[in-house]
Amino acid sequence: MLRITVLVSGGGTNLQAIIDALAAGEIRDAQIVRVISNNPNAYALTRAENAGIEAVCISPRTFDDREKFHEALIASIDEAGTDLIVLAGCMVVLPPELISKYSGRIINIHPALIPSFCGKGFYGLRVHEAALERGVKLTGATVHFVDEGTDTGPIILQKAVEVRDDDTPETLQRRVMEEAEWKIMPRAIDLIAQGKVSIQNGKVVIR
Ligand code: GRF
Repeated sequence: MLRITVLVSGGGTNLQAIIDALAAGEIRDAQIVRVISNNPNAYALTRAENAGIEAVCISPRTFDDREKFHEALIASIDEAGTDLIVLAGCMVVLPPELISKYSGRIINIHPALIPSFCGKGFYGLRVHEAALERGVKLTGATVHFVDEGTDTGPIILQKAVEVRDDDTPETLQRRVMEEAEWKIMPRAIDLIAQGKVSIQNGKVVIR
């Protein structure tokens, strides 16, 4: 049984998609053991509680310095007996100690087709604004492993979404979530839980 800790900061629709996919048997041999938010007001915490999952807030504001916050975050992830860390709208920059300790065991969802519209500063609506500014006809979402860079880790799954002439950043964001994010994140977790995902020469191989 793959033990998953989900890190969130906001609304938690990707968390909900994972919870629903687990309940529907679309993700097999896995369970969410803990949800951690840096933001006490994140609705994702309520979603976790509603699903009977342990939900904790670890806010940097309640610690004297960043180091203490990082220590508490890592301790909580360790204590949950975590096999896989899932970043589902997590706005915290992860400490390098955490990334190396859980190397190959942290995944993130990015709301664009990496390497487009990714890297520093590309989060939230900004990603979709940039896609519309450039006039791309296709955008989408990417699930990838997390390494020390920003959106640079090995790509696990991607799904394309058509951009419409009348799209606003908000309508595009919503469609990318519905058509791509909420599908490929649960699918990637199931593939990992089934032991089908490996990294070879810096690239993901699915067999
Ligand atoms: C999503 O767009 C995801 O791609 C990005 O942050 C957003 C989180 O939304 N990393 P939610 O909290 O899952 O609703």
